[in-house]
Amino acid sequence: MASETLQKEIRKLQEEDIEPLSRIEAESFSMPWSPQDFRALLDRDYCIYLVALAEGEVAGCCGMTNICREGNIDNVVVAERFRNRGIARAMLEELIRMGGEAGITAFTLEVRVSNAAAIHLYEMLGFVSEGIRPGFYEKPTEDAVIMWKR
Ligand SMILES: CC(C)(COP(=O)(O)OP(=O)(O)OC[C@H]1O[C@@H](n2cnc3c(N)ncnc32)[C@H](O)[C@@H]1OP(=O)(O)O)[C@@H](O)C(=O)NCCC(=O)NCCS
Repeated sequence: MASETLQKEIRKLQEEDIEPLSRIEAESFSMPWSPQDFRALLDRDYCIYLVALAEGEVAGCCGMTNICREGNIDNVVVAERFRNRGIARAMLEELIRMGGEAGITAFTLEVRVSNAAAIHLYEMLGFVSEGIRPGFYEKPTEDAVIMWKR
């Protein structure tokens, strides 16, 4: 299987990652983060943002904000050509491990109700649905599933 042979490295977000990440954002989301959005994260010690490198390229990212020992996960994304090869799973496992080290005891995220791949991924990692946030997303308007891993 391709995922067994893909060499990947997971590390903290650095300035040099921002340009390639912004391109991945733009191809993946209708409301992508800008380079300035990513740059602002570099100075926030209550945030952990990770990138995955594969085949020498930035392949994706995910991140978390520590709010009173709850980890709010956002911006989980993998470049289209690297999807379905275990990259998001590896990034999130590392994010959860680092969050645990930082004293986080519960993790939460929102996901579009139609995003079957992401919901499947989060369930594999132990997240469960705890509710629906109606009309949470724009472009297009859609409900969010609120998931928690406690
Ligand atoms: C969601 C996303 C981050 C997953 O990244 P990835 O690196 O492909 O994820 P992984 O390879 O680690 O795992 C994907 C899992 O979803 C499964 N999957 C893929 N497409 C699926 C679908 N349509 N329905 C259900 N499961 C699906 C894969 O089979 C795999 O599970 P498995 O290991 O049991 O086979 C990626 O698809 C992406 O960037 N999507 C666009 C941005 C996005 O929607 N982000 C999430 C916002 S909440």
